[in-house]
Amino acid sequence: MNILSTQSSQVLAGEIAHAGGFPLIDVTYSRFPDGEVYLRTGEVRGPVLLVGSLFSSDDLIELLLLIDACAEAGDITLLLPYMGYARQDKQFHAGEPLSARAIARALGAGVSRVFTICIHEESILSYFGIVANDIKVTGEISRYISTMPVKNPLILSPDRGAASFAESVAQYCGYESDYLQKTRFSGTEVSIEPKSIPVAGRDVIIVDDIISTGGTQATAAALLYEQGASRLYTICVHGVFTTGAYTHLKAAGFCDVVCTDTIERGCSRISVAPAVLKALGNCS
Ligand code: R5P
Repeated sequence: MNILSTQSSQVLAGEIAHAGGFPLIDVTYSRFPDGEVYLRTGEVRGPVLLVGSLFSSDDLIELLLLIDACAEAGDITLLLPYMGYARQDKQFHAGEPLSARAIARALGAGVSRVFTICIHEESILSYFGIVANDIKVTGEISRYISTMPVKNPLILSPDRGAASFAESVAQYCGYESDYLQKTRFSGTEVSIEPKSIPVAGRDVIIVDDIISTGGTQATAAALLYEQGASRLYTICVHGVFTTGAYTHLKAAGFCDVVCTDTIERGCSRISVAPAVLKALGNCS
């Protein structure tokens, strides 16, 4: 299997190629004078795994161009480690697009199968129109957490949606878990209902699928410190970190903020490559 990647997923692609013993195909990127994206791949022989998170509009263009450049290979597997626009998975108001569907249709048209990682809502997978599976990375996150030097830890989810994720992590590590009740008012405003949680004197590790603005986690931090938590850590799959979220969280008192490499960040200390290789093994 030949591995190719967009510019934003180079490290993960390298990791998958190295760990799986697959050839990594060189791709050269530049721009036309008018700003349009240009790319050229090295020689591709045989099946292809395209690795590219959709985080910006350029990522989408790069993915579409790579799919076209590899069209002759015939068998293209697309790995979307982070799928942007997945949170617009409904038409919340008249006149809105169902953005996740639009993106899935465009990308699904040129490939044989798709893998996503901890996608926001699994129902989106059907929009690709081909075989599409979501890869869970609970094992990778649990293994990382089990090495953290924490005292009397509690694994916490900031909302009910991530409660089973927190529960699975806690079960793996042999820790306790709990969840908070979050209400979202807008993309930037959330409130967390007061809830008494047994955190006094304990280290708390909050786990979630996405940290975007950091608003959810910062609100949770205030509540937990008020209730006597000792040290707070936050670990997510997708470190989107918009509007200075990382520094916002450090300023809110988190001792550490960690994400996986689905979006490549300075704090991407957990690789999803083992879970991807396992999923690829299962699909061949
Ligand atoms: C919501 O459903 C997700 O699980 C995250 O909690 C949310 O996307 C985090 O967003 P923010 O960091 O902007 O509060």
